[in-house]
Amino acid sequence: MSKINVISGDICTLEVDAIVNAANTTLLGGEGVDGAIHRTAGPGLIEECRNLRGCPIGQAKITSAYNLPCKFVIHTVGPVWKGGDFGEEGLLASAYTNPIRIADNMKLHSIAFPNISTGIYSFPKELAAAISITAVRKALKKYKSIKEVLFCVFDEENLEIYNRILSEPSP
Ligand code: APR
Repeated sequence: MSKINVISGDICTLEVDAIVNAANTTLLGGEGVDGAIHRTAGPGLIEECRNLRGCPIGQAKITSAYNLPCKFVIHTVGPVWKGGDFGEEGLLASAYTNPIRIADNMKLHSIAFPNISTGIYSFPKELAAAISITAVRKALKKYKSIKEVLFCVFDEENLEIYNRILSEPSP
């Protein structure tokens, strides 16, 4: 039985099999969690990312973790929130499903997500939390290698939202 937990803090400190990076389509780094992951990993990460030749929105690609305490980094690209009429919800769900699929293919057992798209990409936090939890619960039914998913929140608002939604009975 796989577990879903919430942890508050810096995803760069987590000693899980894989942490997920909220990247952009170039995979060449940025601010926010992307910047933190690249700073902590060191220059080897950007070198490997250059060879990946980008990543479409909603898709994901895996790299080594270099100086990070985790084993792998799975880079995904969330959608920019444009009001909700441009397929943002489905793309955000894919940005959670595809990293789990890749982790399962690699026979990994633990994966940590930041709150993808809810920072610079302005996705509403409440809606993003509901989409992410639904997508993860659905993916865990299919991808059996994953034993633990951590939602790594970085602010009080997301902590309250995730704890509230996860305490509700799942449909
Ligand atoms: N650990 C965990 N979560 C973090 C960390 C960290 N060290 N730093 C930031 N966060 C949180 C933010 O507070 C937010 O809740 O990650 C969530 C995602 O925010 P962003 O990093 O801004 O990502 P996103 O909204 O998906 O925008 C992606 O930002 O950095 C650029 O290159 C990136 O263009 C891409 C865009």
